[in-house]
Amino acid sequence: MWVVLPVTAAMALAPPRGLDAGVFEANCGIINVVKRGIDTLYNGQDIPRFYVLETVARVPYFAYCSVLHLRETLGQRDEVDRLRQHYAEADNELHHLLIMESLGGATRTDEIIAKTLACALYWYTVVVFLCAPRAAYHLSELIEAHAYETYDDFLRREAETLKRSPVPEIAKRYYSSPYFRLLNRPPHDLHSLYDVFLNVRDDEKAHWRTLCSLVQYDQLEPLEEEDDDLDLDLDLDLDLAATRPIINGS
Ligand SMILES: [Fe+2]
Ligand SMILES: [Fe+2]
Repeated sequence: MWVVLPVTAAMALAPPRGLDAGVFEANCGIINVVKRGIDTLYNGQDIPRFYVLETVARVPYFAYCSVLHLRETLGQRDEVDRLRQHYAEADNELHHLLIMESLGGATRTDEIIAKTLACALYWYTVVVFLCAPRAAYHLSELIEAHAYETYDDFLRREAETLKRSPVPEIAKRYYSSPYFRLLNRPPHDLHSLYDVFLNVRDDEKAHWRTLCSLVQYDQLEPLEEEDDDLDLDLDLDLDLAATRPIINGS
């Protein structure tokens, strides 16, 4: 079943620090429409749904890199850390997509849907990021929160099957590679497909945490785990309504 709670919870909040109310509502509306569409199309089809989700979720990082690269070319040289971070996140999302492809991927129709959504989101994000970076980051924040909950729900529903399934080669290679270490997060040891999805889920959490910091503080460094109490919710649903005020420092 498609999990809607976290994004719904996030949308029920007032706009986070640093974000205009109109932008907040527009981003929530876009995510709602896309989520409901994918929910309807992929009800009961986990891997094709993840394929579409990963194809779309990685696009904002390409858009950020494109704009930052352009600014760097034009002489703005003070955002190199942000460029590196978004490149690492884009590469991480690419490997999520490769893992989904190794698990069966999607049909030609699914590919067309995913790539059409991806192209539209790319150009939308480029324009928004050029004009209002926090607004673009907030859109991704909602996507990442939704991705986290989607994988968390899948892990609960399919735990036993996943624990009996082998680890794809691409996951073995990526989670032991220096490219993964760019994310600065220790991986779970890979004994089964369950551990692979644990890593994917926690990657989404890391993305979400960084985006919260960018939206609210315009800073790249995510808050420390022990500082924002996020662990309290990890075995339940990711409750943004509970965690955001703590991240806000209020
Ligand atoms: Fe992902
Ligand atoms: Fe992500």
